[in-house]
Amino acid sequence: MITNLLEGKRGIIFGALNDKSIAWHVAEKAHAQGARLVLTNAPVAIRMGTIGELAEKTGSEVISADATSMKDLNELFGRSMEYFGGKIDFVLHSIGMSPNVRKGIPYAEINYENMLKTLDISALSFHRILQTAYRLDAISEWGSVVALTYVAAQRTLAGYNDMGDAKALLESIARSFGYIYGKEKHVRVNTISQSPTATTAGAGISGFDSLVDFSERMSPLGNADASDCADVCLTLFSDLTRKITMQNIFNDGGFSSMGMSQRAIEQYRKSFEECPDK
Ligand SMILES: NC(=O)c1ccc[n+]([C@@H]2O[C@H](COP(=O)([O-])OP(=O)(O)OC[C@H]3O[C@@H](n4cnc5c(N)ncnc54)[C@H](O)[C@@H]3O)[C@@H](O)[C@H]2O)c1
Repeated sequence: MITNLLEGKRGIIFGALNDKSIAWHVAEKAHAQGARLVLTNAPVAIRMGTIGELAEKTGSEVISADATSMKDLNELFGRSMEYFGGKIDFVLHSIGMSPNVRKGIPYAEINYENMLKTLDISALSFHRILQTAYRLDAISEWGSVVALTYVAAQRTLAGYNDMGDAKALLESIARSFGYIYGKEKHVRVNTISQSPTATTAGAGISGFDSLVDFSERMSPLGNADASDCADVCLTLFSDLTRKITMQNIFNDGGFSSMGMSQRAIEQYRKSFEECPDK
């Protein structure tokens, strides 16, 4: 068993809403590996969710910040450095929201005001976080910044709506900022492309249960859960991955390399037996 992988490291974790959140699992595991943490979320999510419980469990500080507000992010990084008494070693961006998905508006009839919000919350917030940290020189040399994404950035998955566009932008920001941050400060910037996972954000996607079942049948290793995702985050925060940057790492049991699996085709065939073509 690995112990103390993050001993002495200090991190900011965005996006722990409740114990289903992927960020929650990352915080628990990072704490168990010796990291000190600041937990952050939008003010409304702190009121509605259970982040206080996580802070108590992990001995962390909670500082609220709307990730679309440069003022909030400046305060968050400033106060975090004061709390830690120095720079930050790792940051997790685990933030996503689409008003179009929430309101069930189909992609072909999208509302553009909503779409701008989707892009701002789910993708530009990553640029804002990176820019704030860069301007304040808040991240230590060889530090690591990770954002969570989904394969809908590369492939069309029915029902994922404008979140697919947001994830494509998010992954592009990781490469564009990763170049600058790597060259100038030796800071790594990566994304992890996660299997569908039962969380508050995941459950908002239409046909989510079928999507989970489909990708489970398609993936040779089966879906990765939130705990698996946390393990990959920890390796990217650690010193074991110092030369990995500007990458999108698929933590999806092999789903993204598949075309069709035996398990999925057998299930698909059954539907023809039940509903023969007339
Ligand atoms: N659940 C899945 O199936 C899945 C799959 C692949 C990737 N992801 C990604 O993982 C990340 C975490 O999602 P999750 O599944 O743990 O769901 P979640 O609902 O627990 O987390 C989403 C978080 O985003 C936060 N957020 C929303 N607007 C914000 C704002 N303006 N400022 C700050 N925070 C804000 C929410 O409060 C919430 O904590 C997201 O980027 C999501 O797209 C999820």
